[in-house]
Amino acid sequence: MRMKLWLDTDPGVDDALALALILVRPEFELLGVSTVFGNASVEQTTANALRLLTLFGHPELPVHAGAARPLVGEPRFAAAVHGNDGMSGCTAQLPEPAGAAHRVPAVEALLAASHVHAGALHLVAVGPFTNLALALRQDPSLPERVASLTLMGAAFGGHGYTGNVTPCAEANVHNDPRAAAEVFAATWQQCRVIGLDATQRTRIPIRRLSPLAEGSAAQRLLWAASQPYAGYYATRDGENALVAHDATAVAALLAPEAFTWRSGPMRVVEGGLAHGQTVQDWQHLGGADWRELPHHAVATDTDAETLTLLCLEAWQSC
Ligand code: BDR
Ligand code: CA
Repeated sequence: MRMKLWLDTDPGVDDALALALILVRPEFELLGVSTVFGNASVEQTTANALRLLTLFGHPELPVHAGAARPLVGEPRFAAAVHGNDGMSGCTAQLPEPAGAAHRVPAVEALLAASHVHAGALHLVAVGPFTNLALALRQDPSLPERVASLTLMGAAFGGHGYTGNVTPCAEANVHNDPRAAAEVFAATWQQCRVIGLDATQRTRIPIRRLSPLAEGSAAQRLLWAASQPYAGYYATRDGENALVAHDATAVAALLAPEAFTWRSGPMRVVEGGLAHGQTVQDWQHLGGADWRELPHHAVATDTDAETLTLLCLEAWQSC
């Protein structure tokens, strides 16, 4: 049976790569997309989601606009990584969207889907977790109806990866640490957290994407958008490789055995030098503050070649 998926996203180059993976794989039935600020403004990420769905041949799928700002603080965008348009300056290569965003906003749409598909809905969140936190505030029983939650976000220092926007924080969590704290504090039936410890280990050499340059319009867009994005990482890491954070997180639903997992409660630092830092008490050293918290599965490493092949195969057929 296909997994009924809901994608919460801030496209975003690696969000586009994740969306392509979802739409290609027969294991998934994408029900809807909700958007959030993050890589760009929510107006921009919503427009990008609509255009990408049209490009990928699924203009019928609803896009629900979500949060424009974090629960606390001001929004910050990631133009240095994803360009001013969130798509490496490639929006001109995207088709005009077939329609507008759905009139039902993100939180209401997500909650409605959780009722219609109670027990069968798989949530995937690859932007700041603001929409999820707002949904939880509106209806704390949401986790009871969600079969699994897969999050791209956080960094725990594995393999030296402590952050990508500050030395202590990963972007999706740093964009809304309060939202992340509330999502981590909820008792999900299954919650997988794929942070930098895992995504930074899944680096795809850019030359392995080169068949996309000659492929379909969708493949050419992914290729073009990936070049400046990978360039950013090449400058930072000294390696010309694609770090497809969000696609790696989606791959966790398809191939969980390609990840190493570690269970434990999680908390988020709010304010100060380590604002947005995530901590997992996998050794059970924490006191009373930790004991009540639910345990989540954090990805600490990956079988990078397996995930690379999985992603390349999908992107080459979109
Ligand atoms: C995450 O932040 C965003 O820039 C990416 O799309 C990804 O979701 C990586 O830290
Ligand atoms: Ca993202």
